[in-house]
Amino acid sequence: MTSSASSTEDDSLTASSDTSPLSSIDSDCSASFTFDPNNNSNVDGNTALFCKLQISDEKHQEVSRKSLQTVVTIGTGTFGRVELVKHEKTGLHYALKILNIHRVVQTRQVDHVYSEKKILEQLDHPFIVNLFTTDQDERNLYIIMEFLPGGELFSYLRESRVFSNSTSRFYAAEIVSALDYLHTHGIAYRDLKPENLMLTKDGHIKMVDFGFAKKLRDRSYTMCGTPEYLAPESLSNKGHNKAVDWWSLGILIYEMMVGRPPFRGKTTSEIYDAIVEHKLKFTRSFNLVAKDLVKKLLVVDRTTRLGCMKNGSLDVIEHRWFEKINWDDLINLRIKPPIIPTLYHAGDHGNFDFYNEPVEPGQVAPQRERDLFREW
Ligand SMILES: Nc1ncnc2c1ncn2[C@@H]1O[C@H](COP(=O)(O)OP(=O)(O)O)[C@@H](O)[C@H]1O
Ligand SMILES: [Mg+2]
Repeated sequence: MTSSASSTEDDSLTASSDTSPLSSIDSDCSASFTFDPNNNSNVDGNTALFCKLQISDEKHQEVSRKSLQTVVTIGTGTFGRVELVKHEKTGLHYALKILNIHRVVQTRQVDHVYSEKKILEQLDHPFIVNLFTTDQDERNLYIIMEFLPGGELFSYLRESRVFSNSTSRFYAAEIVSALDYLHTHGIAYRDLKPENLMLTKDGHIKMVDFGFAKKLRDRSYTMCGTPEYLAPESLSNKGHNKAVDWWSLGILIYEMMVGRPPFRGKTTSEIYDAIVEHKLKFTRSFNLVAKDLVKKLLVVDRTTRLGCMKNGSLDVIEHRWFEKINWDDLINLRIKPPIIPTLYHAGDHGNFDFYNEPVEPGQVAPQRERDLFREW
C-alpha cells in the first residue's frame, strides 16, 4: 500500500547533516530535550498516560538479513515491498521492509527513510511495531521488524463494513496511547490511516510505517524566550505537526463507525475540496458522545482542536467517550481485543492480500547514491 500523506513540510533531517538520534532534538529555546523512553512526563510538564514500558528481550536479539529466507510478499510500498521472512535456524518469522536505494534517492525521500529508521530505533511501546535491525546492499535498504500476523485493520473494517461503538473505542484508545507516547517524546506520526495499523496475533493495534514521522525541532506548547519577541505562531501553536495526528484520529474514528471517511471525492482534488468545505455529516446511529469527540478533533483551527491545546493529549484521554477505558489496563494489554485474528500456525499470512506479481530485483544504485546511506 502506498502512503498518501504529503510531505510538503520543511523536514529538518538530512542524510548528511543530521544523523544523530532523537536525543539531539533542539529548539530555539535554551533548554534541550533528551529522548528517554522511560520518562513519562511531557516536554511541557503535562502528565502523559502512565506507561511503564517493557523493553522486550526480543528487541535486542541478534538477527541478520543473510539468515532470513523469503516466505512471501505481504505488502507493496512506495519504494519497494514488505516480505514475510523466516530465520533459517530459529524458524522465527519477521517482516522485512525493502526500499530500493535508487528509487528513494530519485523521489527525494532520503530524509524520510533515515528518519523512519532513526525514530523506530528509539521507540518502545506496546502499540508501535518493534524494529530489530537494519541492513543494506548495493540495491536496497532493509528494515527488519517483528511480523504482525493479524494484517491490516483496514481489511477487518472493509469486511465488517463498520465497527461498533465499543470496537471503535478500543482501537481508538490504543492509538491515542501510542500518539500520546510519540508526542510526549516530540515525535509527530503524520500518516495515521487504517493501512498503517496492524493487528498482533492477539488483536492489539501496532502502528507501522514511520516514513512520514518527524521529530520536532520546536517544543510544542512551551513558551520560551522573551514574550515581547514571540512570533504569533508561537502564541497560537501553529505549525506543529502533532496537530495533524489528532485530525487524522478524528477521520479514523469516523471511518470506523460509518464505514467511509467524512470527506470524500472521486479524485484527490475533489477530496481536498471536501476537506476545505468541511461539511461534517453524521449518520443517525452515530454515538452522540463519539460524535462530540470527532467534532472536536476535526476542528480546522489547530489552536482549538482537541489534543492541540495546552493540556495536549490529556484532553483527548479525558474525553467522555473514553470514560470506560482504564488506561492502565489498556497499556498493559489487559483489555480483551474485540477481534482475534484467525491464525493456524506461526508464519500464517492468511490475513494478508496475495501479491502475485514477480519480484524484480530492483536497480543497483550508483556509488554516489549509496554514499548517502553510509550512516544506515
Ligand atoms: N511489521 C509488519 N508486519 C506485517 N505487515 C507489515 C509490517 N509492516 C508493514 N506491513 C505491511 O506492508 C504494508 C506496507 O508497509 P509500509 O511500512 O506501510 O510501507 P509504505 O511506506 O510503502 O506504505 C503495510 O500497509 C502492511 O500491510
Ligand atoms: Mg504505509
